[in-house]
Order: sequence, then C-alpha cells, then structure tokens
Amino acid sequence: MAYGKIPDSVIEAVLKHHDIVETVGKYVHLSKNGKYMKGLCPFHSEKTPSFTVTPEKGIFYCYGCGKGGNAIKFIEEIEEYSFPEAVRAMAEEAGIPITWSGSTDGQSNEGNGERDKLVQAHELAAKLYHYLLMNTTHGQPALQYLRGRGVTDKQIDQFLIGYAPPEWDTLARFLEKREFDSALMEKGGLLIGKQDKSGYIDRFRDRVMFPIWNRDGKVIALAGRMLGEGQPKYLNSPETMLFNKSRNLYNFHHARVALRKSRRVVLFEGYMDVVKAWSAGVHNGVASMGTSLTEEHAAVLQRNADEAILCYDGDNAGQAAALKTIPILEKAGLRVQVAMLPKGMDPDEFIEQNGAHAFIREIIEHPVSATKFKLLYAKKNHILLEEEGQKNYLLEAVRIIAVLDSPTEREFYLKELSREFDMSLDSLKQDCFNERQQLQKMKPQRDNNDNSWNNGRNENRENRRSSSAPPVLPAYQVAERKLLAQMLQSADIANTVHQKLGEAFHVEDHAALAAYLYAYYAQGHDPDVSRFIASLQDDRLERAAASILMMDDDMPFDEQLLDDYVNEISKVPKLREIEQIKEAMIKAERSGDNLKAAQLGIEMYKLQARL
Ligand code: GTP
Ligand code: MN
Repeated sequence: MAYGKIPDSVIEAVLKHHDIVETVGKYVHLSKNGKYMKGLCPFHSEKTPSFTVTPEKGIFYCYGCGKGGNAIKFIEEIEEYSFPEAVRAMAEEAGIPITWSGSTDGQSNEGNGERDKLVQAHELAAKLYHYLLMNTTHGQPALQYLRGRGVTDKQIDQFLIGYAPPEWDTLARFLEKREFDSALMEKGGLLIGKQDKSGYIDRFRDRVMFPIWNRDGKVIALAGRMLGEGQPKYLNSPETMLFNKSRNLYNFHHARVALRKSRRVVLFEGYMDVVKAWSAGVHNGVASMGTSLTEEHAAVLQRNADEAILCYDGDNAGQAAALKTIPILEKAGLRVQVAMLPKGMDPDEFIEQNGAHAFIREIIEHPVSATKFKLLYAKKNHILLEEEGQKNYLLEAVRIIAVLDSPTEREFYLKELSREFDMSLDSLKQDCFNERQQLQKMKPQRDNNDNSWNNGRNENRENRRSSSAPPVLPAYQVAERKLLAQMLQSADIANTVHQKLGEAFHVEDHAALAAYLYAYYAQGHDPDVSRFIASLQDDRLERAAASILMMDDDMPFDEQLLDDYVNEISKVPKLREIEQIKEAMIKAERSGDNLKAAQLGIEMYKLQARL
C-alpha cells in the first residue's frame, strides 16, 4: 500500500510498538469503562467524558467532536503533525530505524521546499547573530548590555541570544553567499527589499536578537531588542508561512518537558522574563509575543498542562492583561492562578532585586486563585475608606463570586468578605443567590434550540453537549454501519458482503470504506482495524471508520443478520422508486387524472409487495 515514502513495514512496526492506551494515556487520563477506556477529550473542551479508546481495536473516538482513528492519527492530531511527521516521531521513540527519506524535504512539494529553506535561513541567521555577539568586538556593547541585565553566558547560549550589527546588509550578504533566494528571505521576514528594487537589506539592525522556536525546536522567527530605550523597543518577525504569533509561544519547546511533567505552565509577558525565570529555576515558563494570549495559545497549553500560573508585570497594564487572560485559559479548561508581583515590578526586575530563591518561594509558589485575583483587582477601583466605596466593592465582589460553580468555593469567598468587612454571611449569601438567579436568566436557552449535532466541527461545542443525542439514522444507514463494523473485523464477512452487495452502499463514505476494505483483504492482509485505518490517508474516512467501530456491537452476528442488513440496503432503490411513484400518483389525483392515479397505485402496490 502506498504511504508516500514510508514503507508499509514501518507503519506496521509503529502501530505494534505503540499501544493505543499507552499512547493516548500520555495525554489523557483514561479510566476503564467495560470494553472501553473513557476520558475527557483533548480536542474539545468538555466536562463529562465523551472520548473513548478501544484497546481491542486500537482506536480512539470522541462522540463529542467526532475525532477518531488509530494511534498514529492521535499523535497527528494532538501534536499537530502531518502523517509522515507522526510516524517519524513514533518510530524514533520506539527505536525503529528511519530508513525512508525525510518527510519534509519537500522535493515533491514546492510549499514544503520553501518552508525548509526558510527554516534553514532562520537557523543560520540565529547562529550568525549569536556568533557575532559572543566572538566579535562588534558584539561587545550588546554583550555588556545583556550582562548588565544579569543574563549569564549560559543563558545566552541556551537561548541562542545574539546581536544583529548596525550595517545594512550583514545577513543579506551572508544569505546571498549561501545562495538563498532573497525574495523568499523577504517573504520570510529576514530581509527587506529596497525601495528602488536594487537589492535587499537586513530587517534587524543593531539589536539584541532572540530566536523564536517552533514546537520542534526549529528557529522560525526572531525578535530584536534595542540596546537602550527607544521605540520600537522590540522588533519582531512579521507573520510568515512559518510564524504565527497567535499560535506560537516563546520557549514552548524548551518548557514542554517540564510542563508536561508538572502539568503546569507559567505564563510571562516578556522574553527577558522567560530567560531570567529559567535561570531562577522556572523551567515551565513561556510567553506570548507582543500579543495578548489567544484561544489558540490556550488550546496548545491545555494539551500539555492542567494548570496555568499567570506571572504578568505588576503594573496596571500587566494586571489588566492578566484579568483578560484568565477567562481565555479557563475556557480552554485550565485551572488558573495568578502569581502577583510587587507594584510596578516585572519578573525580570524582581529576580534582579531579590534573587532566584525569593522569586520561587514568594512569587511562583504563592499564587492566588483567579477569583482572589479578581477580587483584589476590583478592590483597587474603590475607595474603601468611604462607606459608599465599601458598599460598591462588596456588591462587585459578590458578582465575582456568584459566577463560581462550586457552592463550597462561593461560601469560602463570601465568608472571607464577611470577616473582612464585618458583614453578616447571610446577607452576602442572599445577594449572591439573587445574582446567580440574574445570571441564570441571562443564559441563552440552550436546550430548546439545540439541533446542531453534525458530527462535530461547530463553534459552540459546550452548548452542543447539553442535549446532543445522535440523530436517528434511517434503517439502511444503520445497516450499512453495522455491516461495515463486522467487515472491518472479519475478512470472511467482508467477502460475503462483497459477493452479495459489492460496493452498493448508499452513503458515500461507506461505499468508499467498503471498496478500500475489499482491496485491503485482497492484498492478503489480516483484519487489523488500526492498520487499515492507517492505510486510508483520509481524515473523513478515518473518522467514519472510527465512529463505526465505536458502535455497541455486542449483538451476536450471524448469516441471518447479515442477510437482513443486505436486504435493508438493497431495497433502498426500490423504496426510492416507490416514493417517486407515490408522488406522481398524488399529482395525478390532484389534476383529476383518476385513471392514471389508479394505474400508479397498482404499480406501487406491486412494488411494495415485492419488498
Ligand atoms: P525588557 O524591557 O527588555 O525587559 O523587555 P520586556 O519583555 O520586559 O518588555 P515589556 O514588558 O515592555 O513587554 C512585554 C513583551 O511585549 C515583550 O517581550 C515583547 O514581546 C512585547 N513588546 C514590548 N514592546 C514591544 C514593541 O515595541 N514592539 C513589539 N512588537 N513588541 C513589543
Ligand atoms: Mn522587562
């Protein structure tokens, strides 16, 4: 079977080595549920598990969002890998030698070729700048600047920090000499075309350079900081085919190991904060780059962690940003806490002034809950010395507390308020209760108008969950699914169906699956659901196969049942014919042509009798 350049035997070995439960278990907490394992889906946010793994068949399937497939597919989805990338990573992990040529050398694909060239150029540029910083007199002022800010040589090496000299064309000449296409380099944000079109100049000049990596540790962008104060303080690579600000997080590839282990991520605002925090021992720190944290960022984080600690600057802007970020992270399913810094300080400054130990002990290890943070933030807006201010703060605080789902948590914070302001707990509780009723009223009436079950892929997933019973399928579709489920697990059954029905399935995906399955068995393969799915190379079909396999199939299957299903499927064209005749009959009746109507009626009756 064709998997591009990857040999069939490798796919087989990869699937054999990577048990589905183990593979998924690294990302999802699974618990046993009869023949299945169940857990919270890592691909959409949900509170009750609709994500299932069937060890016996080697597949996963989510009833909520419709994602499904084998172990390779899971890695593709969760790591955002292509199929060859996933196979490669899994082969490497299992110690299976990688003998086929690279998945991204792009010879067959122009797009990949350009991407690879650009990555190469970025890697080279980062190394060049790093070399210039460390080894030339040109780099001395920048090196002094960094050392002056407490960045050690070890960190400079680790973060590959560099220096772009003030000349117009240091990088341009360097890349030209190595025969990189300058137009492509401009597209990738490293160079800028001169106005008179006579050549290219460097984008970054006289700046301290921070390489930005993708998840795999490849340099895909750069950020340059001025040596002193001035505007713009930072100059970043533009959005390119490699670099997407709203998805990329600075230091994610370094932090990933620690982050996965602790299931906890620390979010900073700035590059320098990440670098300095690392040296203080915070190895799970990342930063978004000059943008506020997006839902996409949050989704990436949620796949790797359960908990986020926001460690934003202690100034107003930083605290406001933290407030804005909390709901984004919470919506993605992360528990959020806030590590607060003294007024006006950023993490980098705190570490410089108080040392690594204090930073860890006093700040990172003592975060406050998101609710506590919101309360503290709200407090600043009221003058608590005045009665009016106190009252207004209390009302605002109750509103903040009222949104909490847990009665225990609500009581906890209300008690704190009652103590702090010497108020009776009962009255606070009453206000909180009223507030919750208000909130309830404002909630959209989701259950009544929810008809959006469409095999996943719509925006409002949370809403859909509430009353999402799968639609009742017509009998012939059920029959097709039941047959395919059996065919996937038995070559004999597939053969029988092939003889009786061929590819005459009515649902397009079912017909395609049947055709592939016949071919699969014809090549002498034994039934192996997970391998068969790997051979499909089609997202939709893979999902369809997984969804079919996840049906409850505890019913004993026999020849009789098989025939019933085949009949159910074969009679569809006749049913459609009958429907057409019926329509024609009604039409004839309406137009007064009773004779024709009667003839059609007889015809219809005959057909029905034959079914
Ligand atoms: P230092 O001043 O070197 O300590 O940097 P910082 O990271 O503390 O900067 P700051 O807190 O002012 O900004 C936080 C982040 O916002 C930076 O790391 C950048 O990603 C981004 N940022 C700040 N200034 C600029 C700018 O002028 N342009 C762009 N594009 N991004 C900026
Ligand atoms: Mn700073």
